[in-house]
Amino acid sequence: MAVHPRDSPFLRACRREPVPYTPVWFMRQAGRSLPEYRRVRAGVPMLESCTRPDMIAEITLQPMRRYHVDAAILFSDIMVPLRAAGVGVDIKPGIGPVVDDPVRTSADLARLRPLDAGDVPYIPQAVRMILAELGDRPLIGFAGAPFTLASYLIEGGPSRNHDTTRALMYGDPGLWHALLGRLADITISFLQVQVAAGAAAIQLFDSWVGAVSAEDYRQAVLPHTSRIFAALAAAGVPRIHFGVGTGEVLGLMAEAGADVVGADWRVPLDEAARRVGPGKALQGNLDPAALLAPWEVIKERATDVVERGRTAEGHVFNLGHGVLPETDPAVLARLTDLVHAESGLSGRPG
Ligand code: CP3
Repeated sequence: MAVHPRDSPFLRACRREPVPYTPVWFMRQAGRSLPEYRRVRAGVPMLESCTRPDMIAEITLQPMRRYHVDAAILFSDIMVPLRAAGVGVDIKPGIGPVVDDPVRTSADLARLRPLDAGDVPYIPQAVRMILAELGDRPLIGFAGAPFTLASYLIEGGPSRNHDTTRALMYGDPGLWHALLGRLADITISFLQVQVAAGAAAIQLFDSWVGAVSAEDYRQAVLPHTSRIFAALAAAGVPRIHFGVGTGEVLGLMAEAGADVVGADWRVPLDEAARRVGPGKALQGNLDPAALLAPWEVIKERATDVVERGRTAEGHVFNLGHGVLPETDPAVLARLTDLVHAESGLSGRPG
């Protein structure tokens, strides 16, 4: 029977309402683990593919055809709004985002202008194409959080420990807050464009914020993430907040104002539930590397995640980080059905 996306298990779990089974989606469910993705992307640079509405729609929908996942995530990248706002950035295959001129001084801030909806016309165009085919499963929009975006801008590219980023955070708080403030503005605009076009939930990726201590999170990061969640509150869609290695800051991430807090695989979900406190749903957190192990291992670990997830007020099953490119899509299909069956009253979704 057709269900309005509003009543879908994914949105119900985000709102901490009863669900018929634990909803599932996977970060990076679209992408390099899928042969059909590699075919569509052949010869098209990553960031160019993110500006072509037909390609965004096709790649977003590819995993929806293969898996019984409960939500789609827009195919884009956290660098898309920065490039649209005029930052010289590219995504190099096998490396990641690379910035032409790193941001290290207050003069460099001039290169970060606000993002206007007119800078990203392909986003609403793509969202309309996706919604026309998606049926009753909701679409998740997303953006990068200020710390993670700042890390790429300051380091000039991917980095192991984000040392230059933390050095600037300690050494020049004025520049730090000015930079994160501008990035928060860009992120707010980019999320608002997606919600206005029809995204039913949003996720803020602060992938690398696990690099800071709790006290530094409170001083240097929280004011900016809080402002983003506050700006999106009126939109009325669930707001998800995710980072990697965030065990020490889960409580503060919850304080920043999201409805759902994502956890990586390092913190068991029952412990994560204690750390985020009441009034929050959780998302996570099977180790993506576990999907490369034998099925019996995957089954045992996934069942454990489902069981621990029951201690949260709401639980959206996901991995603790993105799908690894070498993952077998058949394993993701089987895992999705397993989670639905293990968690469902009738043992079957639908
Ligand atoms: O399915 C989905 O989850 C939606 C697609 C998505 C992409 N990037 C597509 C992509 C999402 C949600 C992102 C977010 C993103 N981008 C994050 C936050 C999530 C996370 O993984 O922590 C970050 C840190 C980035 C920056 C980025 N972009 C990295 C580190 C890389 C990988 C570089 C590499 O080659 O290993 C990218 C490129 C990228 N973004 C790819 C995809 C499918 C691979 C590029 C390709 O297919 O050629």
